[in-house]
Amino acid sequence: VITKVKARQILDSRGIPTVEVDLHTNKGMFRASAPSSDLSGMYEAVELRDGDKGSYLGNSVIRAVKNVNEKISEALVGMDPTLQSQIDQAMIELDRTEKKGELGVNAILAVSIAACKAGAAQKEVPLYKHIADLSGKSQLTLPVPAFTVISGGKRAGNNLAIQEIMVLPIGANRFEEALQMGSETYHHLKAVITEKYGAHGCNVGEDGGFAPNISSIKEVLDLVKEAISRTGYNEQIKLAIDVAATDFCIGTKYDLDYKSANKSGQNFKSGQDMTEMYKELCNEYPIVSIEDPFDKEDWEHTKKFSGLGICQVVGDDLIMSNPKRIKRAIEESTCNALLVKINQIGTVTEAIEVVKLAKDAHWGVVTSHRCGETEDSFIADLSVGLSTGQIKAGAPCRGERLAKYNQLLRIEEELGDNAFYAGEDWRESP
Ligand code: PGA
Ligand code: ZN
Repeated sequence: VITKVKARQILDSRGIPTVEVDLHTNKGMFRASAPSSDLSGMYEAVELRDGDKGSYLGNSVIRAVKNVNEKISEALVGMDPTLQSQIDQAMIELDRTEKKGELGVNAILAVSIAACKAGAAQKEVPLYKHIADLSGKSQLTLPVPAFTVISGGKRAGNNLAIQEIMVLPIGANRFEEALQMGSETYHHLKAVITEKYGAHGCNVGEDGGFAPNISSIKEVLDLVKEAISRTGYNEQIKLAIDVAATDFCIGTKYDLDYKSANKSGQNFKSGQDMTEMYKELCNEYPIVSIEDPFDKEDWEHTKKFSGLGICQVVGDDLIMSNPKRIKRAIEESTCNALLVKINQIGTVTEAIEVVKLAKDAHWGVVTSHRCGETEDSFIADLSVGLSTGQIKAGAPCRGERLAKYNQLLRIEEELGDNAFYAGEDWRESP
């Protein structure tokens, strides 16, 4: 049984406070931490921050820590850690708000993950296996990783409007091989950028992708294409982009120059223009997936583009891991893949439920990190246990990103002959 729940404030990969939890049972101590990003609080769970400008610029999480140490601990001590849904339900009831803003999703999620780890230990099974059991599945699949190699948007200090360019080693035979392909591409890209723009072009964004100061999407895609051709994996590696178009949507227009100093307004595009641009990009480059091609409320253009069937269309800001928005998007055929961010929904049980919703609709599912990450590798096990088929955890470098990818290496090794890499089944993993 759970004997003690103790939280502390730690720092995430951006140097901003987040919550870490040590959950104790008769089997030992289980540690977990909450990832973080700018949660808008509109349709997603709410992080509790102290707002005291004198402490971490208002970002300390002492109240959330206190909520774990007092209220949550009191409610959970004595519970069986294998009963994940009951543990999560107890916290939801204790919080009593729709968005977990009373206790804070940072408090609730860290406890939920720690309990999941404790539950696995109680059953003496690996974490991914326990997660599979919780979801009622038996299939364990290693996901295709989407490695960020170029960063832009709000996550980097360059002029590139789109947030990320990712490489997907779909043609690898194993996860280990996929990681090698990602790493080699990353290092060849570093050389390609250095040759063309000098070493300063290799400064990186928050998720580890290179952030050369280029505003043209085609110019950066050409760099990535060149890097891939130097690896020799031309056939095996496909591309994905996260446009995060909400960040540069002004009214009904999209401003691809939103980050440049002299905004002329000349590069304003309509939803239709954007659609044409994506068609062209998918034609010229091996792009198989586009995330948030339009504003989070521009369901109309997203649906139209999705309907063309050119590539996977992922709803991140569009959906915010919110079950109501998933249901609506399924009904209206708005997109065809879910980006699941566990801190937007808030508990392991609810994350399992949203993944089920998406899979039942034959959507793709991408398990996702946040820009503010920790050393916790939970989402690696989650992606295998739920067979999401895809994982996005940033560049194949930097500790907080590698924590996830390296854990997938260990899982693949442990599964041995039973390891199954999603590969060509990345969009509808069994
Ligand atoms: P985040 O989002 O940086 O807000 O965590 C990552 C993403 O857009 O996929
Ligand atoms: Zn996104």
